[in-house]
Amino acid sequence: MAINQNPAYQARHMFLCGTTGSGKSSFLRRLDLLEQFKRVLIWDPDRDHQAVHCTSQAQFKSTVMRSIASGKPFRVAYEATNATPEEFEFFCGIVWAALDGKEPTAIIIEELADVTDSGKGRGYWGQLTRKSRKYGGVIFAISQRPQEIDKSILNMAAYRWCGVVETEADRKYMSGVLSVKPEDLAAMPANSSTLCHYYLKKPGPMAAQFGKFNPQRGRISL
Ligand SMILES: Nc1ncnc2c1ncn2[C@@H]1O[C@H](COP(=O)(O)OP(=O)(O)OP(=O)(O)O)[C@@H](O)[C@H]1O
Ligand SMILES: [Mg+2]
Repeated sequence: MAINQNPAYQARHMFLCGTTGSGKSSFLRRLDLLEQFKRVLIWDPDRDHQAVHCTSQAQFKSTVMRSIASGKPFRVAYEATNATPEEFEFFCGIVWAALDGKEPTAIIIEELADVTDSGKGRGYWGQLTRKSRKYGGVIFAISQRPQEIDKSILNMAAYRWCGVVETEADRKYMSGVLSVKPEDLAAMPANSSTLCHYYLKKPGPMAAQFGKFNPQRGRISL
């Protein structure tokens, strides 16, 4: 159970979408904001992030509990052998139990569409999307398929990031989310190994802004 509720926290959740190779994981790896968190928990079935990786439920649970008890900064990932909705629910339950309003926790979710559907967020995942802010939780949710994920995280996301999207249907959908024309999304340049392109919608009335970054070096500030 999350502890030390503090309703004063701002909503800082981020949603990232784009086709494979669009730069979602790299953007988070380069994002300086993430370095400010002393506690980072990651759903990372493909080992896209640097962390202590745990491959069993027991190992993940005990590593998180030990890390919290140590009082030191930690970055722990769950690398479930099968990325099933049941495993994800287990992960979210541990994250929910780990939240402490006295110290913000970054929660990175790789490929959300594999483990949730487009219905309302249920179980511990629903708890995280609706309530984690008050306990210092900041969700960074990634998906290649924006139309297949539950809408609550999109609605809650203060920051909405979109890289190259391949299908017209996805571009239309993301156009509404970002306040950017589908033609502008279609006109995004192709990525290379040293340059990725994206639109980022920040909190407030402004439309998303175009940006680029090198996935291999440098830090990104929001
Ligand atoms: N360590 C690296 N060395 C060289 N190129 C890299 C490296 N990491 C990422 N890239 C390049 O950066 C781009 C973005 O890759 P990234 O893995 O961030 O995409 P992604 O959106 O997370 O893809 P996926 O949905 O498949 O996980 C790709 O063009 C990739 O080749
Ligand atoms: Mg990735």
